[in-house]
Amino acid sequence: MLVLTLHLAWCAAQISLVGTTATSKLDNLTAPFIFNSLSGLITQWSNTVHGTGHSIVPGILHPFTLLYHAREDDLLLPPSPEWLAWDPEMSYAIMVPRGGQTHLFTYRTTRPANVIYFDGMSAAWGAGWLDSQHMFIYGMSKNGTKDMNWWDDYGRAEKLCEWAKSRDVEGFVRMNAGFEIVWCDFQSPTLQLVSHLNITPPGTPERDSAPRSSHRKLVDFEEVELLPFDASFQDSFDDPEGRPPRRGPGDGDGPRRGPGRGGPGWRPRISDLALTGTLEWVRAASHRSFTPQPHLTLSYADMVTYYHPRLTSLVADRIGGPMSSHRLSNISAQDALSIVEEVDEALARSAAGDRGSGFDWGSAARGIVEYWGDRVSHMHAYLVNASNPDSNATASLPAIRTLAYTLLNPYMQPGLMPNASGWDLFFGLPSTVVPSSFAFSANITALERCMYQATSFLSQLRTTPQESLLQNSIESVLSRLCNEFGVIFAQSFNLTEADSDTVHRSFIQQWTRSVEHLMQWLDWTVWLRCENVCPLDYVCSTPVWPVAWFSRWDDDAESLRPRCMRMAV
Ligand SMILES: *[C@@H]1O[C@H](CO)[C@@H](O)[C@H](O)[C@H]1NC(C)=O
Ligand SMILES: *[C@@H]1O[C@H](CO)[C@@H](O)[C@H](O)[C@H]1NC(C)=O
Ligand SMILES: *[C@@H]1O[C@H](CO)[C@@H](O)[C@H](O)[C@H]1NC(C)=O
Ligand SMILES: *[C@@H]1O[C@H](CO)[C@@H](O)[C@H](O)[C@H]1NC(C)=O
Ligand SMILES: *[C@@H]1O[C@H](CO)[C@@H](O)[C@H](O)[C@H]1NC(C)=O
Ligand SMILES: *[C@@H]1O[C@H](CO)[C@@H](O)[C@H](O)[C@H]1NC(C)=O
Ligand SMILES: *[C@@H]1O[C@H](CO)[C@@H](O)[C@H](O)[C@H]1NC(C)=O
Ligand SMILES: *[C@@H]1O[C@H](CO)[C@@H](O)[C@H](O)[C@H]1NC(C)=O
Repeated sequence: MLVLTLHLAWCAAQISLVGTTATSKLDNLTAPFIFNSLSGLITQWSNTVHGTGHSIVPGILHPFTLLYHAREDDLLLPPSPEWLAWDPEMSYAIMVPRGGQTHLFTYRTTRPANVIYFDGMSAAWGAGWLDSQHMFIYGMSKNGTKDMNWWDDYGRAEKLCEWAKSRDVEGFVRMNAGFEIVWCDFQSPTLQLVSHLNITPPGTPERDSAPRSSHRKLVDFEEVELLPFDASFQDSFDDPEGRPPRRGPGDGDGPRRGPGRGGPGWRPRISDLALTGTLEWVRAASHRSFTPQPHLTLSYADMVTYYHPRLTSLVADRIGGPMSSHRLSNISAQDALSIVEEVDEALARSAAGDRGSGFDWGSAARGIVEYWGDRVSHMHAYLVNASNPDSNATASLPAIRTLAYTLLNPYMQPGLMPNASGWDLFFGLPSTVVPSSFAFSANITALERCMYQATSFLSQLRTTPQESLLQNSIESVLSRLCNEFGVIFAQSFNLTEADSDTVHRSFIQQWTRSVEHLMQWLDWTVWLRCENVCPLDYVCSTPVWPVAWFSRWDDDAESLRPRCMRMAV
């Protein structure tokens, strides 16, 4: 550890000497959170597991995108605002299980439309998930209140749409099981009605509840429990044997049984044909686990986030907690207002034609996760095995050295430095510098290349303030990855079979701890997966709200683990 500290200090000195980048002086405490928000935008798993969204990202909904809206009445023009789903499965599963008539509207967009995306589980009801919308509304209203109801979907939509009106924004993209849009004006020429169909499945019973308001209700909490498939869902986890699902009335009293189900007066509300509708919603959401929602181009250069270090009122509540515990409700009025102003500035700048550097921040962040993610977890798994007292520590060394080397080899010049130590190869300057007229500086360390190669050029470009924050987050994440793997490489490269097994073992223990801390700090969802390959009639999914959300109030890591869910037809 002493060696590590010395080398980090030494490297810091080098960086300032060569003056390569050291781009921002921004506080980097929220860098891993901003990085996760960025790399996970419009994907299901990251936003489910990290939960409470902090970022607000303007974007363009593509022309000719199909969108869906289901309702019980047969109005030809839905009132505004209302909801559009990207997946017809979502519209179906929200309306059909209620019984009665269901009408499905299919729309096509006719032109690009400006939208604003709230990341996280922003279309779900629960502690923290709506914070960013609520604090945005709080910030934009004079004398606003922080007390807003989760279930007041229409009140929230009306306030957001009121704000959007003068800003040429047509809707708000949000996520629960898949993505949806709060659409502000159904009379907008952006929407073209493609079809309006009565899709009520044959054999659907009459709606048996009291008349509902004409307003959309998502799924009530009771209904989550009442959804006809929750019993089969319970049975379908990690159950490749495929026990037959329990289904239908009177089939026992599971602990999660909601009020009324199976009790007096209970009767099924849907047609047999529609029984899999809810499961199909989960299947649709599973298509977006890591693949960003198509037909939407986010404007990364305008990405505003409540993780900005200037929002000091939020710092205390975050200390020590994972991203899913980060709340915004203690934000100061001033900080809340500053986010609204920042979004306005970004929208105005972009409308004036300034789109920032043009750097593709989303691909850059996802590329880093792709390059490092599975190799870091491979290294971790290998180190855990090698730490076992029964394993031969000396025999483990070459593999550890190779795994570290593989990640760092694009940056080092062993061909130029025969017999150099691992330290010199990665942390030291090359003894001979390629004299050249190349645009890049050859006189920098491999460590600096590893940390800054992807982004340092941006210092010479015109970037937006939002891009500077993203650059800081990417460089902070790479800085930690490159330094820690650099140390493992240098130390393992220096060790030989001549050193004792005890020495090797103590290094292995030290590396295991450092990779473990690194993984905790990064908190990447790419490390989540189903334990087994799921059979063909299963999908691998994290719990998704509201259809398959078991943990409900308690969002610990174990309950959010992805599992094979049976699509029990
Ligand atoms: C490379 O950088 C080091 C440290 O900044 C400096 O001492 C050295 O003179 C430089 N070499 C060349 C060839 O520029
Ligand atoms: C805000 O509230 C204060 C005190 O309740 C009141 O005096 C003031 O007029 C209000 N301002 C606006 C813009 O509503
Ligand atoms: C808000 O601050 C209060 C007072 O410090 C604290 O008790 C509470 O836990 C905080 N709320 C959240 C959501 O962190
Ligand atoms: C760790 O050991 C287990 C059991 O021997 C083995 O199946 C697994 O492949 C090993 N993992 C790595 C990364 O070496
Ligand atoms: C451990 O592995 C090394 C290198 O492969 C070998 O030389 C040594 O004999 C092994 N030790 C034991 C106790 O098997
Ligand atoms: C590298 O080490 C080998 C073996 O010790 C030696 O023969 C060779 O001369 C060294 N090369 C350089 C450039 O120092
Ligand atoms: C964060 O900044 C501090 C202070 O500048 C620095 O010591 C630390 O190495 C940085 N951490 C990362 C991961 O970049
Ligand atoms: C490299 O290993 C030798 C022992 O083989 C040790 O004396 C030396 O301190 C190590 N160097 C570094 C930089 O870790």
